[in-house]
Parts: sequence; C-alpha cells; structure tokens
Amino acid sequence: MRSTRLTFTAGLLGLVIGALPIPGRAQDVAEGATLYQWYCATCHGLDGTGKGPMAPALLVQPTDLTGLSATADGAFPLLRVVRRIDGSDPLVSHGSGMPVYGPLFQGDEVALKTASGQPVLMGRAVADLVLYLQEIQK
Ligand code: HEC
Repeated sequence: MRSTRLTFTAGLLGLVIGALPIPGRAQDVAEGATLYQWYCATCHGLDGTGKGPMAPALLVQPTDLTGLSATADGAFPLLRVVRRIDGSDPLVSHGSGMPVYGPLFQGDEVALKTASGQPVLMGRAVADLVLYLQEIQK
C-alpha cells in the first residue's frame, strides 16, 4: 500500500516537473534572434550573410555570420565571437563600422563552453546572441 502511494506521488511529481517550461536553450535562442534583428541585421542582414541594408555604406564589409564555423574548421569560434560582440577583442580592426556593444549587453553573467569545453563568461544578452548565431551556421 505504502509503496503504491509512493509510486503515485513520484508519478505526480514527474508530471509536474515534466510540465514545467524547460529553462534555457529554446528560449535563449528566441531572445537572441530578437536581439539580432534589433542590433545586428542592419549590417549583417536578416539572414546573417552580411548583406544588410547598411552594408553598401561601409568601407569594411560585414562578415557572413552563417559561415563562422565553416571558416574555423567546423568548430564555432566561441571565444572570438564573444570578444567581438562585447568589444574586448584587441584585434578589432580600425576602420570597422561595427559598434562596440560591451556596456549595452553587460550584466547577468552566464558561462557557455567552447568546443574544447572551456567555460567562457559573458553577459546573458551576449550568450543569447551567441546561441542564435550557433543556430544559423551553415
Ligand atoms: C554598423 C554595422 C554593424 C553592426 C550593427 C553589427 N556589425 Fe558585426 N561586423 C560589422 C563589420 C563591418 C564587421 C567586419 C569587420 C570587423 O570584424 O570588425 C563585423 C564583424 C562581426 C563579427 C566578427 C566575425 C569574425 O569572423 O570574427 C561578429 C561575430 C559580428 N560582427 C557580430 C555582430 C553582432 C552579433 C552584431 C549585433 C549585436 C553586430 N555584429 C552588429 C558591422 C556591423
């Protein structure tokens, strides 16, 4: 009797847990997509290929963001992308029209892992953007 009740309780608990929205991935990608359309698409294009409406006005052309993994032997260059977005990349070329978003996307720090498993700390908004960029790799 007792064990039946326990099983029943455990079953109920499973139902409740199963019904909770899963925190993380799907939601973050959607958030990243929104941020992307808002802050990045004017230059990098709605589809990420670098042909946004502002591109013709730029001296240095926006990168095709769908080819980030392809140009890095298939492994998404997480660290480089994060540094590029938050502006901490020391190699940012002079003359690039890309704004530095550091302060805008700061806060609420989370960690994402590189292909080799190294955790990289970044603001939640940068993480959402990175998850979205990973989604649109060809
Ligand atoms: C005003 C135009 C403009 C906007 C807006 C813009 N970018 Fe860029 N972006 C560029 C240009 C130009 C380059 C290429 C030159 C360079 O690396 O600075 C670039 C390069 C990059 C790179 C480097 C790719 C590599 O191979 O290392 C990443 C990543 C990137 N942008 C992501 C973003 C994201 C994410 C956003 C929105 C938060 C964004 N960009 C908004 C113009 C822009």
